[in-house]
Amino acid sequence: MTARSATPARIAVLVSGSGSNLQALLDRIAHEPGFGGEVVVVGADRDDALGLTRAREAGIPTVVQRLRDHPDREAWEQALRHDVAEQRPDVVVLAGFMKILSATFLDGWPGRVINTHPSLLPAFRGAHAVREALEHGVKLTGSTVHLVDELVDHGPIIAQRAVEVRPDDDEERLHERIKTVEHDLFPTCVGLLCRGQLRVDGRTVTVLPAPEPSAAPPLTDQE
Ligand code: GRF
Repeated sequence: MTARSATPARIAVLVSGSGSNLQALLDRIAHEPGFGGEVVVVGADRDDALGLTRAREAGIPTVVQRLRDHPDREAWEQALRHDVAEQRPDVVVLAGFMKILSATFLDGWPGRVINTHPSLLPAFRGAHAVREALEHGVKLTGSTVHLVDELVDHGPIIAQRAVEVRPDDDEERLHERIKTVEHDLFPTCVGLLCRGQLRVDGRTVTVLPAPEPSAAPPLTDQE
């Protein structure tokens, strides 16, 4: 990927739930000069997502497309893509977005959709990663940030960080500790994507050195 920009990359964030990862991203952008991105729209698949409230409090435009308001998934994805695209994002961030997206949506931002998942992939894909890690009795789980392809929790891995499972953990306690890690790791990876510092060769992602501030070439589509 050769995306680099002298102006901040435009970021769309999709949420379904509490949006604590959205908040962590907004906080990072606010406190890190040179982050290289700004959130221009927050989208959701439900109108009661707390992440929408966080976005509105930050003055960020929001869009909602509920699956049940459309005849099928294809129509829903087209509508979501249309609404998000109106804000011309360069990058799409899935921050606890609980629906699977196909090429109908993803083709709008090839190689520029990023997700955070609460396990050490490829272990425990899917919506119940924390519960399944506990049930399996693993001693280590964690956080994975990856680029999104059409398979669930499958695309090239950007970064991972381990979290120890404690004997007295339940799903909520373990997930909270994973989220604490995500809140640091995910914004870091979003920044790398925004600044064009990720090179993807097949499944292997390499982090490139930060561009010189004065030498940053304009943001372009990926190669
Ligand atoms: C995170 O743990 C993320 O990994 C998973 O959903 C959770 C979202 O949490 N995909 P929040 O809505 O950002 O608080």
